[in-house]
Amino acid sequence: MKIIAFFNNKGGVGKTSLVYHLAWMYADLGLTVIAADLDPQANLSAMFLEEDRLQELWPDGLHPDTLLGVIQPILKGTGDIAPPHLESVEADGRSVDLLVGDLGLSGFEDKLSDAWPRCLDGDEAAFRTISAFYRALLAAAQSQEADLILVDVGPNLGAINRAAIIAAHHVVIPLAPDLFSLQGLRNLGPTFRSWRKGWDERLKKNPAPDLPLPGPEMQPAGYVVMQHAIRLDRPVKSYARWMERIPTSYRQYVMDKPAEEGMRVEDDRYCLALLKHYRSLMPMAMEARKPIFFLRPADGAIGSHAAAVRDCHHDFTDLARQIADRCGVPLC
Ligand SMILES: Nc1ncnc2c1ncn2[C@@H]1O[C@H](COP(=O)(O)OP(=O)(O)OP(=O)(O)O)[C@@H](O)[C@H]1O
Ligand SMILES: [Mg+2]
Repeated sequence: MKIIAFFNNKGGVGKTSLVYHLAWMYADLGLTVIAADLDPQANLSAMFLEEDRLQELWPDGLHPDTLLGVIQPILKGTGDIAPPHLESVEADGRSVDLLVGDLGLSGFEDKLSDAWPRCLDGDEAAFRTISAFYRALLAAAQSQEADLILVDVGPNLGAINRAAIIAAHHVVIPLAPDLFSLQGLRNLGPTFRSWRKGWDERLKKNPAPDLPLPGPEMQPAGYVVMQHAIRLDRPVKSYARWMERIPTSYRQYVMDKPAEEGMRVEDDRYCLALLKHYRSLMPMAMEARKPIFFLRPADGAIGSHAAAVRDCHHDFTDLARQIADRCGVPLC
């Protein structure tokens, strides 16, 4: 079982849409997939579920069937994580299990910040807190015999994301070819490496050998260039300039490696895909509550849309295979 997180501290680059589509693509490729919504904005949950269902999952008071319910005993200091509930979602004869997000997850930020330094003192409760997400993902995977967990996180470098990223075996970075994404990499890369080093140091202080903890893996699997996120108010030549800089910035900030002069995104081994702008197909898919590549004529995918839906299926098949290859996920 592999856990793959999709992470960029720059907002709105398309992380959640990517996780949603890849979860369905891996289900289509025959894997048992869990999509885990670790963003307190819960946009992934809103993509998968109808509003009525979300209302049931987020009643006044306790939320036993969301991720908040899982970590609630830790938050309250009354015990360890509760068994996770998974919401089974169906589309086009496939199914994906969702670990439902919760706006209340933001209340975990302070607890996680406080636990991080205490791990260095060998404090078992601190290790239980930092590893709560990982252990929740592990329990979810075991209950479904899952092959793969895809994790969506919010756009920041806070303590929730640190715990989420530590829990992942691999991290994919979706980015846009613009100033904001590349500036974002300057912060993301070093922070990401300091989290890995910090966790490695802390692991040596763990006082509870039986506690399942994530290893210090969190390997960067590569980046996906999200072309829909290009700012249309910028000239085309500025787009080309930012595209040129991606391979160098990724090497320098994320991999801590020297630049390879003249490397183009298209030839870069760290580039997993250049993902298209799917234009009106994206809102059509959100409306139909299914990924673009499952859209049918009854959903409005007729004429040129039908061809674009087939192209999208190819794009995501290729991307899913690339990521699986990098992360060691066996596919048929
Ligand atoms: N390939 C695409 N083609 C067209 N539109 C897209 C594509 N990917 C994402 N979008 C649109 O871009 C917007 C932002 O996407 P999304 O919410 O997935 O970004 P995000 O990175 O998760 O944002 P946040 O940082 O707020 O979590 C959404 O309206 C989404 O429908
Ligand atoms: Mg998002």
